[in-house]
Amino acid sequence: MILLLLALACGGEAPAPPAPTTEEAPKAPGPSGLPMGEHRALRMAMLQTLQERLGDAYAAPVPGLDEADLAQGEALYRAHCLRCHGETGRGGPDASSLVPHPSDLSHPGKARFFSDAGRLEIIRAGFTGTAMQGYGEGQGAGVDLSEAQLKAVYAHVRSLRAPAPEGARFHDSPDAGPAKRP
Ligand code: HEC
Repeated sequence: MILLLLALACGGEAPAPPAPTTEEAPKAPGPSGLPMGEHRALRMAMLQTLQERLGDAYAAPVPGLDEADLAQGEALYRAHCLRCHGETGRGGPDASSLVPHPSDLSHPGKARFFSDAGRLEIIRAGFTGTAMQGYGEGQGAGVDLSEAQLKAVYAHVRSLRAPAPEGARFHDSPDAGPAKRP
């Protein structure tokens, strides 16, 4: 009150709003290069998008996946995916410069976070908010893989995944989908 009176006394102008004193401390980056928790949030958002886009097909087995040509898939993977995902799926030469870094495709839990149909759709259409472009026809990567080629490259990706230990339940796998052991 006294301050207000003083302010009014010195020319009648309202006192300036207080300057912000506390700024939020920047969050420390987590292992993916994004602030802690944000990579998981992106993956949860992508999961929801995929479930909405694919409906029942999200959790259903992918027809033809088990007959896909693994040799063709490996060649496609080397040509298009290796630089980011690496030989074993744990990250290639470009991985550390990306934010978020690509997840470990060989990890028994992380590589079951999305269903087979969901991962195939990521390869076809991309992963929102990350460097992962779509490789299907007319999609961001500009590579235009056919459906058979998409299945082949995903069959190779799935073969990189370590088997789930007997009876394992992964805290980050809300839907293990119809995934089979390689
Ligand atoms: C420019 C780098 C880059 C290239 C090239 C790339 N990816 Fe990715 N990929 C990413 C990033 C980044 C993500 C998203 C972050 C994550 O994995 O959580 C991702 C996500 C994925 C996922 C989902 C991860 C999961 O947990 O299941 C799959 C599957 C995948 N990529 C396969 C491929 C395949 C197959 C190719 C080649 C046709 C490819 N990627 C090419 C960077 C790349």
